[in-house]
Amino acid sequence: CSSTAAAASSSSVLSRRGFASGPAPERKVAVLGAAGGIGQPLSLLMKLNPLVSSLSLYDIAGTPGVAADVSHINTRSEVKGYAGEEQLGQALEGADIVIIPAGVPRKPGMTRDDLFKINAGIVKSLCEAIAKYCPNALVNMISNPVNSTVPIAAEVFKIKGVYDERKLFGVTTLDVVRAKTFYAGKAKVNVADVNVPVIGGHAGVTILPLFSQATPRANLSDDEITALTKRTQDGGTEVVEAKAGKGSATLSMAYAGAIFSDACLKGLNGVPDVVECSFVQSTVTELPFFASKVKSLLVRHLTLYKCFILVLSLVRLGKNGVEEVLGLGPLTDYEQQGLEALKPELKSSIEKGIAFVHGN
Ligand code: NAI
Repeated sequence: CSSTAAAASSSSVLSRRGFASGPAPERKVAVLGAAGGIGQPLSLLMKLNPLVSSLSLYDIAGTPGVAADVSHINTRSEVKGYAGEEQLGQALEGADIVIIPAGVPRKPGMTRDDLFKINAGIVKSLCEAIAKYCPNALVNMISNPVNSTVPIAAEVFKIKGVYDERKLFGVTTLDVVRAKTFYAGKAKVNVADVNVPVIGGHAGVTILPLFSQATPRANLSDDEITALTKRTQDGGTEVVEAKAGKGSATLSMAYAGAIFSDACLKGLNGVPDVVECSFVQSTVTELPFFASKVKSLLVRHLTLYKCFILVLSLVRLGKNGVEEVLGLGPLTDYEQQGLEALKPELKSSIEKGIAFVHGN
């Protein structure tokens, strides 16, 4: 553990960057896939977060080096590296949050669906271990295709009898990060002030940014909104093509994953009114999962419906994870059409994940 003085000084640096500061309870965060393109910068960013007291870095290989490197940074958390399946239990034990960027990234010409077979198996076995070693942890799923890996995780947890819909999140923050950046550029407003809800799912047309609800307001034409929507939906492909065979978004994804995990930590620590977009079990639409704004009150809505709905939604986060999945707000005709258009693909990705776990 680093000294209190070091922690205090790093805390002041971090608060200037939008991270939480102040006295914080002990929190263990585990990163699974920590030696990867996303895992490494994400581990670095979590090491910079003063809300983390213990940082557990796990991968099938390469973690001792990453852990040794990151552990020299003079911030609060104690860092431990774990390599290989036999150390997975130790890596997970006592974790408050598990972040999963383990898997294979998309290569040019590959769709998110192509990744399915490999990543589905990886996610399934990691979630079986989570169910065994830290069943109460919040799980932040980054591994793609998120539209299917989140339902896979949910099914695994249900089979193991530990499923709590408040604690499972598809990390869709990168879509929000992109929507904010692209909107600020087009609307010529300060990006630090921008807010854009992004709902639906986390692949192509299932990503639906609601620019009509973006703030600060700007007078963008229909064509500009269409172009911004398309660029947000294709943001992942833009990076895959620019990297020309060397993987997908890693640095911006690590940033997005760190922002979302920081929000989860704040929620756990009782900070009020923490709202983020995330792909969670939801009744906002007829789909079982949906990305929406999430507050920490989601449970009330969900217990009414046992059917399985994952949707990217705005959620309020709290001491037990999701407290509330917020509604979609008023949609324009264009957004309403986008919502109807995304449902079939999202539904089939969700069903594909469920079927994978049940061997169909
Ligand atoms: P990468 O190949 O650089 O790293 C993946 C890491 O996972 C490697 O270090 C590998 O050893 C590790 N790994 C593989 N099997 C494992 C297992 N069973 N247990 C633990 N670790 C394991 O890939 P990258 O670029 O870091 O991407 C990781 C995942 O994140 C991919 O599925 C990618 O599609 C996804 N992604 C998600 C985004 C999102 O917005 N949610 C954005 C960009 C990528």
